[in-house]
Amino acid sequence: MNVEAQENVEMEQELEFAASYRWQHWIRAVSIVVLTVTGFYIAVPFLTPAVNADPTNFMQSLIRSWHIIFGFVLISVIIFKSYLFIFAKNTEMERKALKDVINPKIWIQQIGYYLLVSKHPKLNGVYNPLQFMAYVTFYIAIFVLIITGLIMYVHDFHQGLGGFLYAPMKSIEVMMGGLANVRVIHHILTWGIMLFVVGHMYMAIYNAVFGKEGAMDAIFSGMKWHKKH
Ligand code: HEM
Repeated sequence: MNVEAQENVEMEQELEFAASYRWQHWIRAVSIVVLTVTGFYIAVPFLTPAVNADPTNFMQSLIRSWHIIFGFVLISVIIFKSYLFIFAKNTEMERKALKDVINPKIWIQQIGYYLLVSKHPKLNGVYNPLQFMAYVTFYIAIFVLIITGLIMYVHDFHQGLGGFLYAPMKSIEVMMGGLANVRVIHHILTWGIMLFVVGHMYMAIYNAVFGKEGAMDAIFSGMKWHKKH
C-alpha cells in the first residue's frame, strides 16, 4: 500500500479501557514502583540516618511502613481488578481474549507478527495470546508476593489484621520452609516483576509504533483507533 493510499484509510475511535480500568492500572503501577524501591531499601539499607543525640531515628521502620502501606494499596487494587475481570460488563473484551488463547492459529500468527513475517491476527478480545499468558504469569507472581509479604507482615504486627492472619500465614510459612525462605522468594519475585515491567513497556511501545492504532493512548484516554469497517 503506498503512502497516499495509507493516508486515505478511514479510522474510527473506539473505547478500549474504561475509567475504572485505567485508574486501577496507574494505581497499581505507582504501587509497584514504590514497593520495588522501598523493598530494595529494606533488603540493603543504604542510607545512614543523620547522627544526633537522639538514638531513635528508625529509618528502616519508616521505609518499611511505607512499603506496607503501598503493599495494602496493591492488595486492594488487585482484588478490585480481579472483580472487574470476572464480573464487570465493560471488561467483556478482556474475557473474550480467552477465546484467542485456546486458538493455535492465532498463536502462530501472533508470533509471526512479532517476527515481522505475518500480519497481526484478528483478535476476539483485547489481549493477544502471548500478552494474556504474560499477564497470567504476572498475576501468579503478584499473588505469591502478596502472600509472602503478608507472612512477613504478621511478624511485624501481632494485633488487628496481623493477629487475625497469623495462623493461616504461619501454616504457609512452614510449607515454604521457614521465614528465611519466604524472604528469599519475596526478593526473587521482585526481580521477576522488574523484568515484566521492562518487557511490558517494550511491547506497549512496539505495538503503538507498528500497530499504528494508538495502543499507548488507550491506557491514558481509554480510546484506541481502528480501521473503519
Ligand atoms: C510488587 C510487590 C512487592 C514488591 C516488589 C516487594 C519487594 C520487597 C523486597 C525487595 C523486600 C526485601 C526483601 C529482603 O529483605 O531481601 C520486601 C520486604 C517486605 N515486604 Fe514486600 N514487596 C511487595 C509486596 C508486598 C506486600 C503486598 C506486602 C504486604 C503487605 C509486603 C510486605 C513486606 C514486608 C513485611 C517485608 C519485610 C520488611 C522487613 O524485613 O522488615 N510486600 N518486599
